[in-house]
Amino acid sequence: MSYLLVHDDREYLRAPGDELQTDLGVLDVPEDVEPGDVLETHLGEEFVVRRLRGPDLFNHFERTGAPMLPRDIGLVVGHTGVAAGDRVLDAGTGTGVLSAYLGRLHADVVTYEVDAEFADVARENMRLAGVDDRVDVRTGDLTEHLDAVAEDGPFDVITLDTGDAPAVVERAPDLLADGGHVAVYSPFVENSRETVQAAREVGLRDVDTFETIQREMDFGERGSRPSTAGVGHTGYLTFARNER
Ligand SMILES: C[S@@+](CC[C@H](N)C(=O)[O-])C[C@H]1O[C@@H](n2cnc3c(N)ncnc32)[C@H](O)[C@@H]1O
Repeated sequence: MSYLLVHDDREYLRAPGDELQTDLGVLDVPEDVEPGDVLETHLGEEFVVRRLRGPDLFNHFERTGAPMLPRDIGLVVGHTGVAAGDRVLDAGTGTGVLSAYLGRLHADVVTYEVDAEFADVARENMRLAGVDDRVDVRTGDLTEHLDAVAEDGPFDVITLDTGDAPAVVERAPDLLADGGHVAVYSPFVENSRETVQAAREVGLRDVDTFETIQREMDFGERGSRPSTAGVGHTGYLTFARNER
């Protein structure tokens, strides 16, 4: 588990025993460091120790595949009801932001990443987030491991953020527990359509697709209105449910 060391608007991620060297001086992070501690550099500059929380993962994880945004993660959690103790199958891991959020919810996650270097980065990210005991990052193409992974099932939730998600959805009835959900994130609507078709063909229920658009509010001196900067589109989320 790592902690954020915060000084004004600066934040650094460090583990117990690490050293932080900046223009504010050198600071050794004690092994028994706790959130709320105030640590001083050798120049007397103070850093407050803060526990790493979900949104911090975006700023401090090393990035590989484009991570899912909080608004989309919120929809995944809301629509699947994923909770502590649930077993989740995820692909692709990418940066691992979704996996780490799920691990922080105390779900047990098996996540596949086809790119070996990305998988190594994601394992380190899980360690930084303190969820490496609950998030099992496996190197490989999930579509090539479906028979083996079915033996690890059933899973309560499947989360997919890959172009070949429809091939996994086709196997969802073998992988999901009764009543379990699949959630597929797609940046393009064509991929969502293929996902919906695959879900319908294998008899999944409650097949729904949502476009996620979030509008930030501007509260200015002249008045309040939605921000005019950008459309706020991130992608499409398709949900479906296994009911035997
Ligand atoms: C957009 S990123 C996923 C981001 C992730 N959801 C997050 O929140 O950080 C997609 C990742 O899926 C991986 N990928 C694509 N197809 C895959 C497959 N069939 N099996 C495993 N990983 C795959 C890619 O290498 C890429 O790293």
